[in-house]
This record gives sequence, structure tokens and C-alpha cells, in this order.
Amino acid sequence: MVVYYSLSGNTAKVAKEIAAGAGADLFAIEMKRPAVEGVTRDDLVSLQVPDWEKYDTVYLGYPIWSHFAAVPMQYFVEDNDFTGKRVVPFSISSSTGAGQSAARLRHSAKGGKWLKGFSFFADTGRDEILAALRKE
Ligand SMILES: Cc1cc2nc3c(=O)[nH]c(=O)nc-3n(C[C@H](O)[C@H](O)[C@H](O)COP(=O)(O)O)c2cc1C
Repeated sequence: MVVYYSLSGNTAKVAKEIAAGAGADLFAIEMKRPAVEGVTRDDLVSLQVPDWEKYDTVYLGYPIWSHFAAVPMQYFVEDNDFTGKRVVPFSISSSTGAGQSAARLRHSAKGGKWLKGFSFFADTGRDEILAALRKE
């Protein structure tokens, strides 16, 4: 399962490549009204993935906002139980990289075996994404 949040489409593009490469289902975290400041849980459409229990591996894709994961992904990890799952975070940033974003998500989450994951830039191409997946 690939769960992602994307404001301007870059993370969505990478998430779709990963889902196609890994043969995984996709779940988009969506906002009722796109915003980057003052975002609360009420601004999100749903944080519940259908059939969440059946997935062993969850990729989590998010843009970097001010050096950390975009707020909607922060809410997603706080609201879901990752016990028994492998978690593979991947971030998309324009220049600064993943930083401590994945560590913060891991500390906020209930359970899960969190792998190092990936850090991509907004212009990362399909071949580079698939090569990174193969090295996982
Ligand atoms: C509020 C906000 C804060 C951002 N902060 C950073 C940052 O700290 N470092 C960085 O490299 N890019 C930063 N960016 C750029 C995004 O990470 C980048 O444009 C990303 O590709 C957006 O992904 P999306 O198209 O899936 O929304 C920020 C973007 C926004 C909207």
C-alpha cells in the first residue's frame, strides 16, 4: 500500500511510480480546502485506509514542509496503528532533503518496523525511483 499526501502534484507522481513498480494499492490523503497553515484534522477528508489490516508494507509519501513532513501526513501517522507492518517513508523536497522528517513520523506513530526509506527531489525521474526501490 502506498499512502501519500501531495499539495502540488510532485509527491503524487512519485507515489504512482512506486505503486506501479511495487504492484501496490494507492491511497491519497486529501484536504477539503488546500492550505499549508493552520491545518487541522477537520480539514482532511479521511485518514482511514480501506482494509488497512490486510497490508504488510506501507509506503508513506509526503512533501517536505519547513524541514519536516507535510502536516496531513503527520496526522495520518498519529491516527493509524502500524503494528505488524513494514513502513517505508519517502519524502519529496525541492532542495533540503528528508532531514529528520522520517524520524519524527516514526516517533509519532504507534508501532511498525520503520525502514530508512527514500528522499527524492521534485524532478526525480521514473528510472531513479525504480532503481531506489530495487535497492530497498
Ligand atoms: C509550506 C511549504 C514548505 C516547504 N518547505 C520546504 C523545505 O523546507 N525544504 C525543501 O526543500 N522544500 C520545501 N518545500 C517545497 C516542497 O517540498 C516541494 O515543492 C515538493 O515537491 C512539493 O510536493 P507536492 O507537489 O507533492 O506538494 C516547501 C513547500 C511548501 C508548500
